[in-house]
Amino acid sequence: MYKAFFGLTSNPFNLSPDPTFLYRSPFHEEALANLIYGVTSRKGFIMLTGEVGTGKTTLLECLRDYLTAHHTPFGFIFNSRLTPEQFFEMVAYDFDLQCNRSSKTEVLFSLNNLLLERANQNMTTALIVDEAQNLDWEVLEEIRMLGNLENRRGKMIQVILSGQPELDRKLEEPNYRQLRQRIGLRCRLRPFNTAETAAYIATRLARAGMREQTVIPADVLAEIHTRTQGIPRLINLVSDNLLLTAFALEQRQATSQMLDEVTRDMELDWPGSSRRFEIASAGQPDLNAA
Ligand SMILES: Nc1ncnc2c1ncn2[C@@H]1O[C@H](COP(=O)(O)OP(=O)(O)O)[C@@H](O)[C@H]1O
Ligand SMILES: [Mg+2]
Repeated sequence: MYKAFFGLTSNPFNLSPDPTFLYRSPFHEEALANLIYGVTSRKGFIMLTGEVGTGKTTLLECLRDYLTAHHTPFGFIFNSRLTPEQFFEMVAYDFDLQCNRSSKTEVLFSLNNLLLERANQNMTTALIVDEAQNLDWEVLEEIRMLGNLENRRGKMIQVILSGQPELDRKLEEPNYRQLRQRIGLRCRLRPFNTAETAAYIATRLARAGMREQTVIPADVLAEIHTRTQGIPRLINLVSDNLLLTAFALEQRQATSQMLDEVTRDMELDWPGSSRRFEIASAGQPDLNAA
């Protein structure tokens, strides 16, 4: 909506996990390097964790691009509400296995053949699982057993488990011990610091056609960081609304007042926000009653 007003060629703060907009913060850079290293050096299980909106799916999309460019076949499981039967069906579909896709035995047999064929050519295969914190134990067990497929050169399938920090906690439970022990590499995404938040916004605006961003002044950038806690998804939502507000007022620059309006409308709260204070005091009688 505000694109033409600010001379942009595309929407800078889209919520899709688009690798072309990637900002390489040190954590993102390291995590992506680790994912690629984990797959190419056949670490078996690789785990990526991070809070909601920190960029996990975006990095998985980058990994997907890397694997495609390097002719490494992969499966991508993003629906975590799966039964084991549906899981095998999705695996068969992703790897284009020519077998009865509703038969676990047939899928495993075909997959094993594919993996062997690839391994004989000294190449590997990957299975990417997003939102893994939601997977049932039965499905995680099947995934763990896929990791047993191995030849003398190492694991034949590299499994990337990505999820919210609950995934870490889930694997601490006793019945996940076997899976936990197999994780050869762990990477963790963290929110941006103040400087990274500013650089992130500038990078996205540059990608959308504004080579040097002048719409959000430094004090507002610092305040965006505080209010979003450096979480990329929230930064996108706030920045998008901020540009929209500036556009509606026909202003070339965003101001703190605009930011106040935006975060109030979004009902955003952050450590030290007055809203948090209101919620805390409103909660007081309940706490006393309990
Ligand atoms: N390093 C980054 N560079 C560019 N955009 C990012 C980055 N990290 C996150 N984002 C953006 O933030 C939003 C949320 O990211 P997403 O990958 O969906 O997070 P998660 O999967 O961890 O919940 C998306 O719009 C995504 O494009
Ligand atoms: Mg995600």
